[in-house]
Amino acid sequence: MSGNREHFGSRAAVIMAMAGSAIGLGNIWRFPYMVGEYGGAAFILVYILCSFVLSFPIFLSEAVIGRKTHSNAIGAMKKLAPGSFWTSLGYLSVITPMIIVSYYSIVGGWSIEYFFKSLTLNFGEFRPTGWTPLIFNTIFLALSSLVVAFGIKGGIEKFNKISIPVLFVLIVLIMVYSVNMPGADKGIDYLIKPDFSKLTGRTFAFALGQSFYSMSLGMGIVITYSSYVKKDENLVASGVGTVVAALIFSVLAGFAIMPAVFSAGIAPSSGPGLVYQTLPHVFMGMGASSPVIATIVASLFFFSVVVAAMTSSISLIEVGVAYLVEEKGVKRSLACLLVFLVAWVLGLASVFSIKAFGKVDAFSSNFLLTAGVLLVVLFVGWRMGKEDVRGEITNQGTVNKRVFGIFYFLIRYVAPITVLTIFVTNLAL
Ligand code: PHE
Repeated sequence: MSGNREHFGSRAAVIMAMAGSAIGLGNIWRFPYMVGEYGGAAFILVYILCSFVLSFPIFLSEAVIGRKTHSNAIGAMKKLAPGSFWTSLGYLSVITPMIIVSYYSIVGGWSIEYFFKSLTLNFGEFRPTGWTPLIFNTIFLALSSLVVAFGIKGGIEKFNKISIPVLFVLIVLIMVYSVNMPGADKGIDYLIKPDFSKLTGRTFAFALGQSFYSMSLGMGIVITYSSYVKKDENLVASGVGTVVAALIFSVLAGFAIMPAVFSAGIAPSSGPGLVYQTLPHVFMGMGASSPVIATIVASLFFFSVVVAAMTSSISLIEVGVAYLVEEKGVKRSLACLLVFLVAWVLGLASVFSIKAFGKVDAFSSNFLLTAGVLLVVLFVGWRMGKEDVRGEITNQGTVNKRVFGIFYFLIRYVAPITVLTIFVTNLAL
């Protein structure tokens, strides 16, 4: 079965695909606000620390599972721990992304709608639920599923290899414009002024949660994408590329958004409110004096949001598709259609009720994600044989030999204790 499996063509392709999954709405609508509210540069430092000390080894653990087995998430766990409790990690890893994509694609739909609205700078009121969002959600999901239908090389790899560089260029252009707006310095201050008094245990937990979400951990994505990575590729190197790309993009997004918000004299916010309420005000304000530039900036911005969301939803869809193709023998195109339908039906609750939307988001990105991450670190740290893990990280003893000891220590002790603490805290809240 694995004989004719596809592979990503190069390291760049692996990094672009992984970064495509990582870079998304999380970087655009949560990160900038968190930075400003939780200590500016001090928060960024904590965030970088979390990314490298925890998210990165967890990312590598998932990569070990995926590349070792060259299988979809459920197949991988069946190979590594047949008939045991651990196969539940596989099932969880396929169910969570299905739930996430059901509401994530609604946001993707809003972004398509706002892209069209930005062409006339006529945004109107933000209506997150109802028939129009359903239509745009359907379009967004259909486009994402279509890319996945073209396969790993012809679909996912190609789409990300074009999209990610384009995204970086666009966000830099928007940032340059934003930081040069009158009064932008207040927004820059908001992002970088370090305030160490805001670094509490809660801040740390938020930073970590955001970092997990941003790196798309705990939902079978890194397992699935890594299953398409060749045996001689250096997992640590591709992982570093991914973490760094996601980090840089988050910071760029902050500097693209907050200076403009402050320049317009509006209070910053987080979540849907930031992108679909605050920013349209900013763009309309800009439009009053220079309509052409405002139209260009606004449409480029919403175009970027659509693309960033698509590269992420593609990764969410691929997890279920890989499972259907490999475990159930379904044709790829049919598998994409099935995942599309399941996500579409699951999304109906969120598309008609913003309350349901919030609940599904909180349940999947706090509870399910943390449970997935916890199982991954326990499995790789304590259940999978040490030599198997070493073999993947070091490519059978040819690379990263020194790094392995640090990685193994983090994954055996530091990660489980920290993630368990967060899991229990989340349950208690
Ligand atoms: N990492 C993406 C983001 O930051 C979100 C995402 C979560 C994508 C889970 C895939 C899976 O927006």
